[in-house]
Amino acid sequence: MKIIETPREMYDWSRKMIGQGKVIGLVPTMGFFHEGHLSLMRTAKQHSDKVVTSLFVNPIQFGPNEDLDHYPRDLAGDVAKAEAAGVDILFTPNSERMYPGDNLTEVSVHSLTENLCGAHRPGHFAGVTTVVTKLFNIVQPELAVFGEKDFQQLAVIRQMVKDLNIPVRIIGHPIVREQDGLAMSSRNANLLPEHRKAALSLSSGLNLARQLYAQGVRSTAALKQQVQEHVLAQKETRIDYISFVHCDTLQDVTEADAQTVLALAVHIGDKVRLIDNGRLELSN
Ligand code: PAJ
Repeated sequence: MKIIETPREMYDWSRKMIGQGKVIGLVPTMGFFHEGHLSLMRTAKQHSDKVVTSLFVNPIQFGPNEDLDHYPRDLAGDVAKAEAAGVDILFTPNSERMYPGDNLTEVSVHSLTENLCGAHRPGHFAGVTTVVTKLFNIVQPELAVFGEKDFQQLAVIRQMVKDLNIPVRIIGHPIVREQDGLAMSSRNANLLPEHRKAALSLSSGLNLARQLYAQGVRSTAALKQQVQEHVLAQKETRIDYISFVHCDTLQDVTEADAQTVLALAVHIGDKVRLIDNGRLELSN
């Protein structure tokens, strides 16, 4: 595996590969790899000749009071893990290289970014769509893999690619979880041991909603009440949102059906904010 640090060298490598008829798959990340990231990389490998993973903690998608300075980092560990997952290029630009000059342009998707995380993290999605557009232009992938863990991010990127005729096929990957159900996240590394149980309330809250749905409960107000009580029963949890939305439009729904996704964002203690989501109706 080769490490490339500059957008220029990355672009030149990609053009050369494309000239040789190679299909490039991209996995954009902010590093501190876990099994979720690594399965995205392996999936990219199945669909392409060359896999590029970008590792860039993108400052413009963090708000002023968010965890940019505490975002976990481990370049040496990430290099070893990406190599073992079969990645060909690890693209690790720094902020000066990604954002030289004035940066007067941003890419933003309307409507889909207004609720859920968009409502709680102003400017976050514009930061994501801007950096992903830049990465697409630099890496020139034919396809890119994103996780369903960031369910709204995936919907926003699919919309952006469609609206702007960006010739990149977007592949979604299911959420990878720890054995106890906790959705894997780089931010789990910042959880204190005593907060681990509280962190589990997102996935167990999701399972509770699924059980109630399977028993015939359809009112999302009733479902929300139960999930809220479940999460708040844990110490040091603070809810950003518990929302029942349509899987494609992300609009709130009052009566749950097969297209309904429960999305949650919960602060655990005062340093970590976790998200999780899933369909209420499980296909088997
Ligand atoms: P990051 O949080 O590092 O996530 C990189 C990719 O891994 C995203 O597509 C995310 O959805 C996926 N991912 C994370 N945890 C996962 C899990 N448990 N199961 C499956 N997939 C998982 O998302 C970002 O970085 C950034 O916003 C980025 C797209 C790189 C733009 O800066």
